[in-house]
This record gives sequence, structure tokens and C-alpha cells, in this order.
Amino acid sequence: MKQAEIGVIGLGVMGSSLSLNFASKGFNVSVYNRLIPEEKHVLDNFSNRIEEGMSVNIFTDLEDFVASLERPRKILMMIKAGSAIDAVTEVLLPFLSEGDVLIDGGNSHYLDTNRRVAVLKQKNIHFMGCGISGGESGALKGPSIMPGGTKDNYKHLAPFLEAIAAKDKQGLACCTHIGPEGSGHFVKMIHNGIEYAEMQLLAELYGLLSTSKTNEDIAQIFKTWNTTYLNSYLLEITIDILEKKENEVYVLDTILDKAGNKGTGSWSAKTAFNLGTVNTMMSAAVFARYISSFKSRRVAMSKRIYKNIESNESFDIDMLERAYRFARIINQHQGFELIKEASNTYNWDLNLSEIARIWTNGCIIRSKFMEDSITVFKVHDNYLDSKSILEQLISDEPAIKQSIMLSMLNRVAFDTFWAAYSYWVAMSSKKLPANLIQAQRDYFGAHTYERVDAPEGQFFHTNWYSS
Ligand code: 6PG
Repeated sequence: MKQAEIGVIGLGVMGSSLSLNFASKGFNVSVYNRLIPEEKHVLDNFSNRIEEGMSVNIFTDLEDFVASLERPRKILMMIKAGSAIDAVTEVLLPFLSEGDVLIDGGNSHYLDTNRRVAVLKQKNIHFMGCGISGGESGALKGPSIMPGGTKDNYKHLAPFLEAIAAKDKQGLACCTHIGPEGSGHFVKMIHNGIEYAEMQLLAELYGLLSTSKTNEDIAQIFKTWNTTYLNSYLLEITIDILEKKENEVYVLDTILDKAGNKGTGSWSAKTAFNLGTVNTMMSAAVFARYISSFKSRRVAMSKRIYKNIESNESFDIDMLERAYRFARIINQHQGFELIKEASNTYNWDLNLSEIARIWTNGCIIRSKFMEDSITVFKVHDNYLDSKSILEQLISDEPAIKQSIMLSMLNRVAFDTFWAAYSYWVAMSSKKLPANLIQAQRDYFGAHTYERVDAPEGQFFHTNWYSS
């Protein structure tokens, strides 16, 4: 049997599609999935999807699977993030040799990846954390790939990963070496944080518009937007979702309003706290999902509260469009600020323009704005330093303000738009009421404060108790 060039562990949705993607690009692939009764169908389904001419060997014995791979082995693990990664690594280790590369393609936490890289380095096994975005169809036809790890390792993997990745407008692979350690998973985590906020913005618009418009009306509005600078994959699928009917009934109307999550959004939010940077939009989007999940409590409260809906005026669609543009810019700004902060904190030397480039196709947050961002980050390290973007935000400020007021008149929760607007207002305020916070801290805890009339870094304390 010919030795396989790449191995994939885990034939779930992503693992099976990525394996077939490798095989369709002409690679010899070995795949492994455990043989347990509950997963028998997984193996059967996968076998049925192998096309003629593809070179794929299926294994249910880990040792045989490892032995089938040419050295140094390259093994992509597509299994549930968390303890399963450690457990499978542990079982694999006795069969591996020095120089082999283990790639974790799931949504693992970057700090776990940092730890795994360090532990396996001692055994001369290379561990790479690799973010992969695009869902099932992306995995099969071309995902956006965010590999972290050493540059040297990336060189060995590049021919495989770049072959299966989506291609950007220039025909280049939407895959690039992100940086060392867990940086690939970090960047994927922020991708998901941006995704959460972007999804929530669309959900809030749908919530507001649906107070007086049908799904079809909303789809038509979004369709118009999607032909402009607002074009994005998430807007596109939202249009499809709004229009989808089964037995003459909109599917969307049959779906319970309780949003799930698998944790990457809250990781992004917590990371902003840890790094001392700001991601109010992602956090608002995470909390909006949590609030939605309190369905029975919401229903009970809604019965106790009299709703005075004051507005039945027609919506200014142009105003909402501008508000949406404004909020999207702030969302991406906060996301890239987090990436920049991590890059500085961990000395990762991340290239924001390259990250924007590999997010222009294959991934969930691909958009026209992401394409424009490649150029922005070639010149600036944040959106607000771009004159044209700043001017756009200034000109769209009245629109987001009015849109938020409209949401209040209609009693529609609009937290993510609020978060965008408040961030913008605070960030462009010469004076904030933080002097009062400092005074309070000094009052009860003698935490000291800086003065407006003294050099920065010089701290003062007031005896607040003396008259
Ligand atoms: C992607 C997605 C993908 C997924 C996450 C988030 O880039 O392909 O981000 O990784 O959608 O699982 O899922 P939750 O919404 O369940 O947290």
C-alpha cells in the first residue's frame, strides 16, 4: 500500500469534508475514526462519499493508521476541542516519531494550544494549532485556514493546506502562516467573535424590521444592501434564511428564539478583559445569546409588563443601512484591535493585512469590507487611522443614533448597535467622567489619582474625610 502523505483523525462533519478535499486535490490520504456502534454510520457515510480516483484509506486502528503515513507524519486532528485533544494526543504519542507534526484543526482555546506546543516540543513532536473556518461546505470546497506554529513546520504543511484552502480574488490561497504558538487558534477565536457580533447585528435589524415588515420585505431590503459595499456571506445567507419556506410556511418563523453557542464568542470576550482591550460588540452579542436562552423567564416577564409601543412610523431604510455600515466597521475595528494587542503582548508579530486577506474567502466573515481591509492594514494598524473610514463613521453617526432611538420607540433590544455607538462616542470624547471613578477609588481605598495640572505618572491622594 502506498504511504499516505497526510492523515486525518475524526470523520465528523469537518474532518470528513477536509479529508475529501485533500483527496480531490490528488493527495494520498489516510483517515481514522474510532469504531464504536454510535459512530458506525460515520464510517459508512464517509466511505460512500469517496469518489473514483481518490486515494483514501480508512482505518479504525490508530497504530495501523499512523503506520500508513509517510514520515515525517502529518496528522490533522478534527475532533472536539478540549480534553479530547489531550486524550487522543496521549494515545497517539507511543506511535509517533521525532519530527512528526500534529495539527489541531478544531476550535481549541489558544492557551491550551500554547501549552500543547510546549509539552510536545520536549518530545520533538511539532504541535500546530490551526483555525479552520467555513463550515461543512467550506471544508469540502475551500476553507479559510489559520495555521499557527513555527515557520519551518508551516513550510512542510503549506503545500497541503494551501491546496485545499479557498482562493482570494488574486488566486492566492486563503491560508497563511499566522505566527508562533497558539496564534492560529487565537486569530480563529477572534474570527468567531467578529462572527458573533455580525450575526447579532443582522438579528437586531431583523428584530426591528419585523415589527412592521414581512420576512420577504426584509429579504428584499437585505438583497439591495448585498449588492453594495455591505456585501457579505452572512448577509447573503440571511437573505436565503428569510426566504426559505417549507409547506408554505417560513422556516424561520418555526425556529425557537433561543440561540446556542459553543464558547468561542465568550472566549473572545474574556480575552479582551485579560489583555486589557475592548470588545464591547462581541460581548454584547454573547450576552444577547444568553438572554435569548432564558426563554421561559422572558415569556413570564413579558406577560407582567405592559408594553407601550409608541412607534408605527415607517422605517428609513437608508438610515438603517448606514447604521449597519457604521456598526460593522466598529465590530471589525474591535476585533483587529484585539489581534493587535495579542500580537504585542505575546510577541507574535501578526500581519493584520494578511489576516484580512485570508478572511476574504472561505470563512464565515468574508465580505466586501474585508477585501477593502487588506489595503487599510497595509497602511494603518487600525481602521480609525484611515481618513476615509473615519469620515464614513462621522457621516454615519446620526444614522446609528436615530436607528437606536427607533429601536427604543419599538421596544426592540439593540445592544450590539448600542455597543458600537457608545464605543465610538467614548473613544472620540475628549473628556470622560473617569475623573469621578478615580475620586471614588481614592476616597474609599486611597488608590490615588493623576491630576490635570501635573505630569502624567505623578499620583496624588486627597484626605476626603477632613472637612
Ligand atoms: C466557522 C465557524 C465555526 C462555528 C463555530 C461557532 O468559522 O466555520 O465559526 O467554527 O460556527 O462552531 O459556533 P457557535 O455559534 O456554536 O459558538
